[in-house]
Amino acid sequence: MGTVLLRDTARPQVRAAAQRIFSHLTAGSPVETALWAEGLTLVMGTRAELCSGSGAAADPALKPRLRKPDAPPFFIDLSAKQLRWRIEHPGAEALAKACLHHLPESPLVWDASAGLGRDALLLAARGAQVVMHERHPAVYLMLLDALLRVQEAQIYSFPLPRLIYGTVLECSGQTDQRPQVIYYDPMFPQRRKSALVKKEMQVFHQLVGKDEDVLETAAGLSRICTRRLVIKRPVDAAPLCTDKLQPAYQIDGGGCRFDCCLPARA
Ligand SMILES: C[S@@+](CC[C@H](N)C(=O)[O-])C[C@H]1O[C@@H](n2cnc3c(N)ncnc32)[C@H](O)[C@@H]1O
Repeated sequence: MGTVLLRDTARPQVRAAAQRIFSHLTAGSPVETALWAEGLTLVMGTRAELCSGSGAAADPALKPRLRKPDAPPFFIDLSAKQLRWRIEHPGAEALAKACLHHLPESPLVWDASAGLGRDALLLAARGAQVVMHERHPAVYLMLLDALLRVQEAQIYSFPLPRLIYGTVLECSGQTDQRPQVIYYDPMFPQRRKSALVKKEMQVFHQLVGKDEDVLETAAGLSRICTRRLVIKRPVDAAPLCTDKLQPAYQIDGGGCRFDCCLPARA
């Protein structure tokens, strides 16, 4: 059982979203959840962050039960220096090329795997209208909070991506709108555990784990987009393929690869 803790200082939108997901959640009373593993606590206050340790680590007033290693709190920062630099210095960006090349201005892009929201933000900065989907409740709440923080601070002048809780496959039935592009970047097993700097990222990996449904999801997404499905893959991994899903071309992204697939005809 993981733990969720809502503080009085959480933003109203975060509070409302958290209470929709966790129906018995009230401010100040931690709630246990089977949605993620014991040892991780999502604390929603002035910032939404994930702490390593049960409720005890997140709130010293609570009786200690389990203390995990000393990982610093993990939070999503859409104003991070490196991300802002990438946004402000458009170059030969493989992601933008894979998703936006040869499309009319301001295409509609659905990001099927929002995660930390960085790729979606980059695509929005390059002119796409982006709707991102995230199904993990803790990631969704941290990302919602991160979006609200950059919005309040008026860090970016372009329209920010919109965030939806759930999967594209669940949500697409609720609208007739179809995106030109769907971008899909699922979780793969973590390969390197050594670097200390990545310690907080290990908490994220511990939270989300590996996505087990990548092939079915990719096949479903390829039936929804109208121009292309872009799948991010590790450089040395085979493409995700079915008889109706094959990359038409690939773009080298340095440390990763973007497989660009044409829409599947139903
Ligand atoms: C590797 S991360 C994505 C990173 C993201 N591209 C970024 O720029 O930060 C994968 C995320 O997608 C989410 N995810 C995976 N499959 C999904 C699906 N079918 N629907 C919604 N979210 C999904 C996972 O919960 C995880 O948070």
